[in-house]
Amino acid sequence: MQEEYFGEGMINRLPAFLKRIGCKKIFLVTGKKSFEKSGARDKIFNAGFDFEYVRFSDFTENPKTEDVEKGIKQLKNSQCDTIVAIGGGSVIDMAKLINIFSANSMDVNSFISNSIRIERKGKPLTAIPTTSGAGSEATHFAVLYNDKEKYSAAHEFILPDLVIIDPELTYDLTPQQTAVSGIDALAQAIESHWSVNSTDESKKYSSSAIKLVIDNLADAVKNPKPESRREMSRAANLAGKAINITKTTAPHALSYTMTSYFGVTHGQAVSITLGEFMKYNFEVSETDVTDKRGAEYVKRSILEIAEIMGCSSAYDAADKIKILMKDTGLKTSLKGLGISSSESLKLIAENVNTERLQNNPRKLTKSGLEVIIRNII
Ligand SMILES: [Fe+2]
Repeated sequence: MQEEYFGEGMINRLPAFLKRIGCKKIFLVTGKKSFEKSGARDKIFNAGFDFEYVRFSDFTENPKTEDVEKGIKQLKNSQCDTIVAIGGGSVIDMAKLINIFSANSMDVNSFISNSIRIERKGKPLTAIPTTSGAGSEATHFAVLYNDKEKYSAAHEFILPDLVIIDPELTYDLTPQQTAVSGIDALAQAIESHWSVNSTDESKKYSSSAIKLVIDNLADAVKNPKPESRREMSRAANLAGKAINITKTTAPHALSYTMTSYFGVTHGQAVSITLGEFMKYNFEVSETDVTDKRGAEYVKRSILEIAEIMGCSSAYDAADKIKILMKDTGLKTSLKGLGISSSESLKLIAENVNTERLQNNPRKLTKSGLEVIIRNII
C-alpha cells in the first residue's frame, strides 16, 4: 500500500519521513539539472536533510540498459538502505529499475531474455515528481530501452512506497516541458479510459484526469499560476493511477519507435496519434472489437471521453486534442518533427509495440495503421 502526500511545500516533510522509517544512508536518484532547477535540492536541505547520501544522476532520458547497469553497480557499492527518486518520469523509472533489479540480483540481459522472476521487494522507495505528466510515482511498472527496443518491467513490488507530490517543484518547468509532460498525462488518461482493462475505479481516475488537463494545460503552459500547476500535478498523478490499473494502449504502442529512433520526446510521440486513435477506436465494430464488453461499450466509453472534454462526438474530441496541441506549442504532424521519409514511416509502422497494442479496444489492422500514419504525415 502506497503512502501519498500532496500539496505545496510537502517536500519539506521528506527529512521527517525518512527519519521515521529509520533510514541511515540514501541512494538519491535525480536528473542532471532538474534536482537543482526544480528547487528540490534547496528545499530538502533547508528542511533538515542531513543524511549521508550517494547521488546518481549520470544517465540520459528514457532509461537505457547501460545506465541501469551503472546504477545497479553504484547502489551495490553504496551501502544505502533507502532510495529516493526526485525528477521526471525517466528518473523515477530509473530508480524503480535499479531497485528491483538489485533486489532480485538480476542483470538487464536476463530480464530482457525473460529468464528472471521478481521474488523480492527492493529497498524502501520514495518518489517525488518534478514534472506533471508521466505519473510514474503511481505505477507498478517501469520502461527500459535496450538497443532502441522498449521493454517494460511490471510487478507490484515496483510501486513506490512513499509519494510526495509538491506542485511547487513544477513552477520552473519551461512551457515546452509543461506541454510535453501534460499531454502525456492526457494521453494516458484517455487511453486508460478506452483500455480493454478499464474498471469503474480506473474510469474514475481517468475521467478526473482528462477534465483537469483539458481545463488547465493551456494555462499551465502559457500563463502558469499556482492553481493550474496544482491541477496539472493532480491530473498527472490521477492519470498514473488510472494506467496503473489499465496500462496504456495504441498511441503509446506506436510512440516508442519515434522516441528511440528519432529522439521525439515521449509526450510529443504519444500525443501525435491520440486524436487519430480516438476516431479509429470509435469506429469499432463487433468484428474487430477486442474488449469483451463489446463494441457498443467501447463506443460509449469514447463518448464519455468526448463529453468530459466538452465535445459532442469523438471527431470533435479529436479536433480538440489537435487544437490543444497547437495551442501549447506541440507538433501535430510527423513532418513537423522532421520525420518524413518513407523508410522512417515504414519503421514506425513496423515496430509497433505489440504488448501495449493488446490493450487497445479495436484490433489494429495494417490498413487501419496506414490510414492513421497517413493522417499524421
Ligand atoms: Fe506515457
